Formats: sequence, C-alpha cells, structure tokens
Amino acid sequence: MGVERSALLYEGKSKRVFATSDPDLVILEFKDDATAFNGVKHALISDKGRINCALSAYLFDRVREAGVDSHMVEKISDTELLCRNVEIVPVEVVVRNFVAGSLAKRYGLEEGGRLARPLVEFFYKSDDLNDPLMGWDVPVILGWTRDWEMAFMKEQALQVNVILCAFWDDLGIDLVDYKLEFGRRPGGALVLADEITPDGCRLWEKGTGRKLDKDVFRRDLGDLSATYHEVYQRVFGAELGA
Ligand code: TMP
Ligand code: ASP
Repeated sequence: MGVERSALLYEGKSKRVFATSDPDLVILEFKDDATAFNGVKHALISDKGRINCALSAYLFDRVREAGVDSHMVEKISDTELLCRNVEIVPVEVVVRNFVAGSLAKRYGLEEGGRLARPLVEFFYKSDDLNDPLMGWDVPVILGWTRDWEMAFMKEQALQVNVILCAFWDDLGIDLVDYKLEFGRRPGGALVLADEITPDGCRLWEKGTGRKLDKDVFRRDLGDLSATYHEVYQRVFGAELGA
C-alpha cells in the first residue's frame, strides 16, 4: 500500500491518529495503554494494541459484510488500520442487551438481567464533562447532530447489534453492552468509526458470567492482557503470534 504515515493529528487514551500522504486517509494506531474512569486509572497492557487492532479489523469486516459501512479501509500492520478520514460526531452510542455498568447504577438495579429488547442510549463525548447521558433531542437542539443522523445512528447501532450478538453468541459469549462512534465523510454521509474491541464492550462468558473485557481492569478482577489473549484465541482459533 503506497500510503506514507505523516503528522500525528490526535492522540487519544488508547489510539493515535496520523495523517497520510493522501488527505482522505488516516492511520489509526492502537496503543497498549488502558485507562478507566476518564483517565484516572492507567496501565500498559501487554499486546493490547495488537489484539485490539486485529479484533477491530476483523469485526469491521464482519459488519461490512452484513451491510454496515465503516471508516476502515484495511489493516496495514500489527497495530495500524488505514481508515477514511472522518469528523467524529461527539455522540457515544451505547447499545445494551443486559443490565450492567452505568445503567445498573443509575436505576439501582442488579447487574445481569437481560433487557426486554436492546436499549440504545446517547452520551455526549466530552472528557471534561465525563460523557453525560443525553435525551434524544438534546444533541440536535444543541447543534451537535441532525435529526436524520440520530435516526441513522440508532438504526445502524441496532443492525450492528444483531450481527455482533450472533458473532459473540457463537463463541459462547454474551454481548452485554458496547459503545459505538460515528464519523462524517466530506459529503456529510455518516459511517461507523473508532473501534470495536473489548475496551468498548462488555463480554460475559455464557454460563459462568466471567468477564472478558475491560471491566477486568476497571474493577481489578485479574490480568487484562491474559483476558484479551483469551478473546483473541476464541475469535481467531489460534494464539497471537510473537
Ligand atoms: P457504561 O455502562 O459505563 O455506560 O458503559 C457502557 C458501555 O460503553 C460499556 O461496554 C463500556 C463502553 N464505554 C466506553 O467504551 N467508553 C466509555 O468512556 C464508557 C463510559 C463506556
Ligand atoms: N475510556 C474511558 C477512560 O479512560 C472510560 C472507560 O472506558 O471506563 O477513562
């Protein structure tokens, strides 16, 4: 692939974004850093960058095959995805299939119950404000999105949910909840963006309820690197290479 990596455009908590020789393309680099509680807790997790890069590439391919487009062009190295350049919409779209996390806390519920149907929630993407929950009309009235974008993101998120639930179900895992982000292309079209990894999902082993996601780190439940290696092994049927 003849695209040269150039200036660092943005560094987030777990990824870096680089410009390339083609203004329409960027390179997303996955780091080993893990953070929680808005960066309050931080650690380097061995192989996380490589594992999350491989999982994201694989899962963006699965959702594209099922008709949901994303920013990803292709995986170009162990830790890098070549992606189309997008302007990230400042809305975190969370889809929930079970009661967990902030939903449990907000309504005083036990974690673990299956919801009557998938719940889609919207949070304002702002580290300074700790990503507050938003009612449906808030981002439109405040000028951050448009009505059609909200409807599109909800519809795409539910479509992704059908695909990902079936995918993880086949591997003996319940997809409890996850966060998606969307980006605007130059003409205004929206596509799925960011990443799909166990950093932004809750994955519970069926039968045991064992956590196979970043909650292992958030809640000090064990070795996150070993957990991510296990997820990699289940998805690809082989250990991550040296
Ligand atoms: P929550 O229960 O804390 O609202 O999280 C719901 C899902 O969203 C969970 O799978 C983790 C993911 N998530 C992120 O990816 N980034 C975040 O900053 C937060 C708060 C949650
Ligand atoms: N990604 C956020 C953070 O770093 C929150 C989280 O995933 O828990 O701090």
